[in-house]
Amino acid sequence: MANKLWEKGVEVNKEIDRFTVGRDRELDLFLAKYDVMGSMAHVTMLESIGLLSADELAKLLDEMRKIYYLAERGEFRIEDDVEDVHSQVELMLTRALGDMGKKIHSGRSRNDQVLVDLKLFTRDRLMHIAEKVKTLFDELQKQSERYKAVLMPGYTHLQVAMPSSFGLWFGAYAESLVDDMLFLQAAYKMANRNPLGSAAGYGSSFPLNRTMTTQLLGFRSMNYNVVYAQMGRGKTERNVASALGGVAGTLAKMAFDACLFNSQNFSFLKLPAECTTGSSIMPHKKNPDVFEVMRAKCNKLQGLPAQIMLIMNNLPSGYFRDLQVIKELFIPAFDELEDCLDMAAYIVERIEVNEHLLNDSRYDAMFSVEEVNRRVLKGTPFRDAYKQVGLEIEAGQFVPNKEIRHTHEGSIGNLCTKEVAALMDEVIDGFGFADTIAAEQKLIKG
Ligand code: ARG
Repeated sequence: MANKLWEKGVEVNKEIDRFTVGRDRELDLFLAKYDVMGSMAHVTMLESIGLLSADELAKLLDEMRKIYYLAERGEFRIEDDVEDVHSQVELMLTRALGDMGKKIHSGRSRNDQVLVDLKLFTRDRLMHIAEKVKTLFDELQKQSERYKAVLMPGYTHLQVAMPSSFGLWFGAYAESLVDDMLFLQAAYKMANRNPLGSAAGYGSSFPLNRTMTTQLLGFRSMNYNVVYAQMGRGKTERNVASALGGVAGTLAKMAFDACLFNSQNFSFLKLPAECTTGSSIMPHKKNPDVFEVMRAKCNKLQGLPAQIMLIMNNLPSGYFRDLQVIKELFIPAFDELEDCLDMAAYIVERIEVNEHLLNDSRYDAMFSVEEVNRRVLKGTPFRDAYKQVGLEIEAGQFVPNKEIRHTHEGSIGNLCTKEVAALMDEVIDGFGFADTIAAEQKLIKG
């Protein structure tokens, strides 16, 4: 017989069961640790309001800790006839402790359980994403400094435009990650509010102490309104997906640049041979597949908020099983983005640039504005200088002076690498990771 928390004598149709449980048995494994943490906070609170004895609490916490470590070692399983992680944990506690295990569900519902699981999961995973974004940021900053004196053409309309540099190019993607990090922080802060106690979405007649569970779980605050707490399902995932999409957008653009600049027609960048892939027919090929796969994965990730929105946006308030399906899209996204971030950091560190690009006369015209500015500094009005240089270029008489001096903030000669690093540090400080980690450790270790 199926092992259902809600079963009352009628066995559910097998096909209906398969269809409605969906991929929960597999995806809920990612939530197991967090489900146990949520329950540890809940039972601690239940004891404080007299719904469990001190002895029961001690035994429950002991048993829960065992399940937590089981999940941490990757050994937690959801049995075939158990529908989700919440049922599995309750079943394990009931097997170990009898009636005590059956008491833990007082004052809650799987609706707020899965909400709290997803928030704790998200918090943890965003912490890792932020770390990896920082690693990539550091690599980009290093390369930016290393190649700050190497010029390259800047393009508008893919037409040779103005002098740029590899320092600027690498540094641009570093600074882009600062803003992406800010967005991650906003998503993190939204996830960092406690929905526990909202129960099925309308609270409970037990005098739950939600302030207590909020503190125990290290949440910055709670989602106060119980109806809104339930509305956070789907909304949190969509907002977090948008933040992941921000990082993915930066990576996708960088990957496209890298593919373009690696092409023989540009020859700006060189990937180490062991980081390229070959062709089965063309013996000369060294393809930048790594950037192509990264671009595709990151473009796919940018579609995630739209996918989630289509599932959740047109639902009225209150819980619906539709929300379960979001897990299929949301949970794997973290691993996918982490993989791309790891790969990006690995490859950026190894990219070499063409230091002699500008010997090629096809880039001469990019110095036209430098020449115009030189004449302006000597007193020629800008429009006149512009015309003179334009006519010289048309007549094939333009001789570029490649000694350029850009001094303002954020320009070739003044990358402001330190200032950008300070911006990143400021954003990272704003997450408040240390408080979260300390609270979680305290809850788990007791
Ligand atoms: N697997 C469910 C989900 O992810 C858990 C909540 C079930 N609640 C319910 N009322 N059926 O949404």
